[in-house]
Amino acid sequence: MKRFSIIALIAAVAFLSACGPKDPGLKDAYKKYFKIGVAVTERNVADSLQAAIILKEFNSVTAENCMKPGEIHPQAGVWNFEKADAIANFCREHGIKMRGHNLVWHSQFATWMFTKHDENGNPVVERDAKGDTVWVERPAFGRGGFPGFGGQRPNGGARPNGAPAVQVTKVPKYVAASKQEFYDSLRVHINTVVNRYKDVIYCWDVVNEAMSDANNPDAPYEDMFRKSQAYQLCGDEFIKNAFIWAHEADPNAGLFYNDYSAWTPSKRTYIYKMVKKLQSEGAPITGIGMQGHYNIFDNPTLEDFETAIKMYLELVDDIQITEFDIRINEEAGGGLQFSRGEGQVYTEEIQQKQAKKYEDLFEIMRKYSKNISSVTFWNLSDRDSWLGANNYPLLFDSEYQRKPVYYTVRDFKKKK
Ligand code: GLA
Repeated sequence: MKRFSIIALIAAVAFLSACGPKDPGLKDAYKKYFKIGVAVTERNVADSLQAAIILKEFNSVTAENCMKPGEIHPQAGVWNFEKADAIANFCREHGIKMRGHNLVWHSQFATWMFTKHDENGNPVVERDAKGDTVWVERPAFGRGGFPGFGGQRPNGGARPNGAPAVQVTKVPKYVAASKQEFYDSLRVHINTVVNRYKDVIYCWDVVNEAMSDANNPDAPYEDMFRKSQAYQLCGDEFIKNAFIWAHEADPNAGLFYNDYSAWTPSKRTYIYKMVKKLQSEGAPITGIGMQGHYNIFDNPTLEDFETAIKMYLELVDDIQITEFDIRINEEAGGGLQFSRGEGQVYTEEIQQKQAKKYEDLFEIMRKYSKNISSVTFWNLSDRDSWLGANNYPLLFDSEYQRKPVYYTVRDFKKKK
């Protein structure tokens, strides 16, 4: 090769490496800032096209449902590890780390823990004076542990033919577990799950959504909490214990309290007060997860979003946006009563509004990137979204193609 062409070749290689890859993935574009994550199902990782997108774009993975207590541990002594293992093995194979989601939540929970079990692991049935089983009515549970057949669907997934969404079945009434019995089960649960995935999981949502939706920042301490079964049995102590047991099982994992609407003046106050109190009592809470089920309007306002980040940084060094999506109607938050966007049109104007919202929120997150370790999209594409494709909340469309908003997020302009 002539000297001239060798020099030209070296110059070309130097130029190309200075430019970086021509088509970086999201994770590459954000590598100086934070990990970019995605919530997936076992079906996403089994599909070659979808798996390729995950590998190109993301460097953190959350299991959407299959690590939740009610899914992975549906009965005393019964473990469903298959789906969680499939996702964990995909991540192990490709060197991706996972966020664990979640260890304690009022929904999709292993509710058998609230029932007394005999020495053979069977639930203890309540009997009347004659010794007969006492029966009660209960809504049937559908996919994902929510009432109805639809699992994570509004109204439990009412059927088009008008059949009731929530079916009622008769079940025996069981004797309630004592607080100690509940704690014994929870500790085994946390220990088992955390240990099984500890090589691949870098942080856990230890407790999810324990705070109330009451919209009163001045609420007294007890009124700040969701009156879940765990809270009714144990008060705020179950939160502290869950963190202690998660830390016992993996001292190296980041341990998060995770909630939706964590930007609002009332919820951020509740979370702040709860975390501060429990930390002072010895709960190893190292991070706060702001779920981020937002909309293109004022949910959140940029000011409130930033204020919440600043408040949380007084208590922890690590914040993550754990369930990011931006829907195009006025609804938001983690509640399951929402429209699935039927008939909504994704106009040019709406797309621009959504792009602006993504752009503004990412700008704030980059500003705090020293203390934001990951930002996770809740689902891979609009087709996979728990909100339904007609809410158009994500960066990939229903055909797994990048939407224009993808480029707004990836090709951000650096602030001088
Ligand atoms: C909450 C939970 C998630 C998921 C979403 C809906 O935000 O934390 O696990 O159930 O609701 O997909």
